[in-house]
Amino acid sequence: MKIIITKNYKTLSTLAASLVIKQIKKKKSSIFGLPTGHTPQGLYQELTNIYNNKQISFKFVKTFNLDEYVGIRAKDSRSYHSYMQKNFFNKIDIKKTNIYLPNEEADDLKKECANYEKLIKKFPIDLLILGIGHDGHIGFNEPGSKFSSKTRTINLLATTKASNAKYFGGQKKVPTQAITMGLSTIMKAKKIILLVSGNDKANIIKKALKEKITQKIPASILQKHPDATIILDETAATKLIKLL
Ligand code: GLP
Repeated sequence: MKIIITKNYKTLSTLAASLVIKQIKKKKSSIFGLPTGHTPQGLYQELTNIYNNKQISFKFVKTFNLDEYVGIRAKDSRSYHSYMQKNFFNKIDIKKTNIYLPNEEADDLKKECANYEKLIKKFPIDLLILGIGHDGHIGFNEPGSKFSSKTRTINLLATTKASNAKYFGGQKKVPTQAITMGLSTIMKAKKIILLVSGNDKANIIKKALKEKITQKIPASILQKHPDATIILDETAATKLIKLL
């Protein structure tokens, strides 16, 4: 595990963008795993800027999103489909047919999850980017998720609903379920980058990286990945710095 501490959110985003660009330069048809949330917004902005300066093309790139809410239609502005279109896909030259997100509108969600898993097996992820939830979740793999878990539906816990209440106008309105790549799906990615910003994440990231690997803190599994890079800004790293 490589841990990089950057000065602030801007430098975290620039560094993450440079690693994405490096990956595309190495392989035009790279396959990415992508997160949502506040943390990767700066990365998507940086990548859009680089694209606008005609320094990169996403034409051959494929992307798989980590997760999606159940019960929120793709067209709803609060869905992760909408988030990705608005923050990234609408702004670059990626082909629609190369974009994959879990489809909560499928009649049979079990089948949808199995198909998503199968697709990722067929198109193995070269570089997967992650954020972390306040309870240590990655994707929507809440504490207690098995390390062997695959793409599936999951019940969201109260901490996650509280963190996401701002997007839904109150905790009670946050969907109760989501579809998420599993922890074993995530661990199969060839490279992983975890982005961590803000002092509200300082505690959980210290636990995830410096304490024992446990299903109670899903992100702790990343300690076992052969090529994981953790990029933190200084505020997120306050509890870690003394230990490095
Ligand atoms: C949601 C997403 C995660 C994301 C997390 C952190 O729960 N499902 O993939 O990493 O939020 O979000 P933020 O970056 O806004 O703190």
